[in-house]
Amino acid sequence: MNLQNLERSRAYEKEHIIKIEKESRPVFHFSSPVGWLNDPNGFSMYEGTCHLFYQYHPYTVHWGPMHWGHATTNDFVKWINLPIAIAPDQEYDSAGCFSGTAVEKDGKHILAYTGVVDEESENQEHRIRQQQCIAIGDGINYEKLASNPVISEHMLPDGVSKEDFRDPKIWFADDMYYMLVANRSEDGSGQLLLFKAKELDSWEFISIFDKCNNEYGKMWECPDYFTLGGKEVILMSPQDMRADGLRFHSGNGTIYFVGRSENGRYLREQVEVIDYGLDFYAPQTLLTEDNRRIMIAWMQSWDTYLAKEENGWSGMMTLPREVTYCESQQCIIQTPVKEIEEYWTDTVIHNHAAISRETQLEGVEGRVVDLRICVKVEQLGEFTMKLACNDEYYVAVIYDAKKNTLEFNRMYSDLRRDIVVSRKMKVDAKDGELNLRILLDVYSIEIFADNGKNVMTNVFNIPVDAENITFECDTNASISVEKHSIHVE
Ligand code: FRU
Repeated sequence: MNLQNLERSRAYEKEHIIKIEKESRPVFHFSSPVGWLNDPNGFSMYEGTCHLFYQYHPYTVHWGPMHWGHATTNDFVKWINLPIAIAPDQEYDSAGCFSGTAVEKDGKHILAYTGVVDEESENQEHRIRQQQCIAIGDGINYEKLASNPVISEHMLPDGVSKEDFRDPKIWFADDMYYMLVANRSEDGSGQLLLFKAKELDSWEFISIFDKCNNEYGKMWECPDYFTLGGKEVILMSPQDMRADGLRFHSGNGTIYFVGRSENGRYLREQVEVIDYGLDFYAPQTLLTEDNRRIMIAWMQSWDTYLAKEENGWSGMMTLPREVTYCESQQCIIQTPVKEIEEYWTDTVIHNHAAISRETQLEGVEGRVVDLRICVKVEQLGEFTMKLACNDEYYVAVIYDAKKNTLEFNRMYSDLRRDIVVSRKMKVDAKDGELNLRILLDVYSIEIFADNGKNVMTNVFNIPVDAENITFECDTNASISVEKHSIHVE
């Protein structure tokens, strides 16, 4: 036990955050205050305010023993940093407070997280243990329960992994707490375990809620579970996925299930990709007071590290998005939170501009912009947009009207290492007509195609003065563009 860990990390953050230059940060995306950030945690409403916690290692720009960083927002755009909420300071979480979720109950803010222990034996073999823990707080300070871990490895049925048992999703319904925890089954692939409790320290195992028999990756991470348009949805991030056409890519994926549950079992009806980009992981959602389901994700991948270490911070979140289920198209639709529109300035509109060789449109430029583009490509040609562009660098968004695919490519984005640079997704466009919404914020691009049905999130690291946007088509295209700069004080 090291009870000083929390105070020490809070003091460290306070001392070092002031050294980080505002100019090195994105404008409207949450970024790590100092050091490293990964998954969003405990994304929840508490006393009418949105709280975001996150996996946090303030001391370096790389992953390390996990703390829960903490911030709040009232509009999903402007964030207020709060002191670190929990630190690894107990025997049962000495190797880290891993991901989890939060729920508001009777005026208290309840955090469910995974306590990780790394035991080294005399012959230096490591044994990892992951167990579920609770901390209760008032929106600033959180106290871990004396009865932690509340779900220990001893409560697990035979044949389930005790090492990969993490990322609890907690909720309260019909006078009961419930928890879904990601786990690995005997065949090594992902499954979700369901628990219930009358009190926060009296959990019992109910069932294996869902398992994938090696169909969707290996270990499943960071489940979220909620109803959307009358459906039960599970959001989840499987490790070690294998590419399947353009549907899944290799490595860490993010998928969602649509279905329903019966007697502690989830019956999957649909399996879809939530985001096709290079940098989107571990999403979580909350329900706002006006009943919107809002999703946020870590805007990075475990497979790529693109941060500029000298900036002193590493890791960003997506702009929160509203998700809805569209019955007629049988899928989730994602829309950037409407609050971003409050920050629009310098609007420029072009209607039906003719495009063939590389062209700039007057006033359509910048690194912090919200763009809507309707493109009509003749003879099923290829339409290319370059963004964050100067003579040396750019990222490209390429619409192939013949194949109906949209590609993001960061090959020429000032890379010094050979990393995955491109990802493609199918779009619904018909007859060469596509609509796009693109949010660009210094080092990231979120691309919403087909009115938010097909989405891609990516990061890159081009110097900030590269701010041209160009359009090009190998046949002829006509485009209508609405550009808004985004200004946040
Ligand atoms: C997902 C994840 C979680 C874990 C956390 C550790 O990105 O691997 O499963 O709780 O990160 O930081």
